[in-house]
Amino acid sequence: MNNDILKTLYSKEDIQDACRRLGQQITSDYKGKKPIVIGVLKGAIFFMTDVVREMDVYIDIDFIDVSSYHGGTASSGSIELVKDVELDVKGRDVIFMEDIIDTGRTLKYLEDLLAERGAKSIKVCTLMDKPEGRVVDAKADYVGLEVPNEFVVGYGLDYKGMYRNLPYVGVLKPEVYSDK
Ligand code: XMP
Ligand code: MG
Repeated sequence: MNNDILKTLYSKEDIQDACRRLGQQITSDYKGKKPIVIGVLKGAIFFMTDVVREMDVYIDIDFIDVSSYHGGTASSGSIELVKDVELDVKGRDVIFMEDIIDTGRTLKYLEDLLAERGAKSIKVCTLMDKPEGRVVDAKADYVGLEVPNEFVVGYGLDYKGMYRNLPYVGVLKPEVYSDK
């Protein structure tokens, strides 16, 4: 698996530093509150578990799954709700945990969905931001790392379901896209 990687963009240590910084920021912003932290499956799970353990705040945890990619490397444009949250978000402070914000469509969809349900506040915390990929106006409140307009894998991010368990973030060798 490691052999399929052309270059590393962010090491395990870079990611750890980012998680610590975000956890501290969220801790100071949510003093005295009890937000629901919602992980966007599946890409955000590694990032989410690392950030929440850097937060000194009471939280509830939930998960949501939406699909826009259908296994490839380009966004399809339409978002589908695959798994909904279980908790009632009405009147609650919500923090979404995302792996990456690219076109911004997923973020916009998620924010609109929970705003409609009466969440008191909605913030987005993302491990990575790809600002050049944006097609809709969407902005994360907490950003770990910025990435160039390239398809990245690792630390939760996949190509056809693979590479999520890489402990760093990297770019695949071009030949991998045709082989698997
Ligand atoms: P949008 O375009 O809606 O995308 O902001 C958000 C979702 O798209 C996936 N995504 C990627 N997945 N490498 C990946 O493995 C990438 O470079 C990449 N860019 C976007 C991801 O699932 C994210 O939640
Ligand atoms: Mg995703």
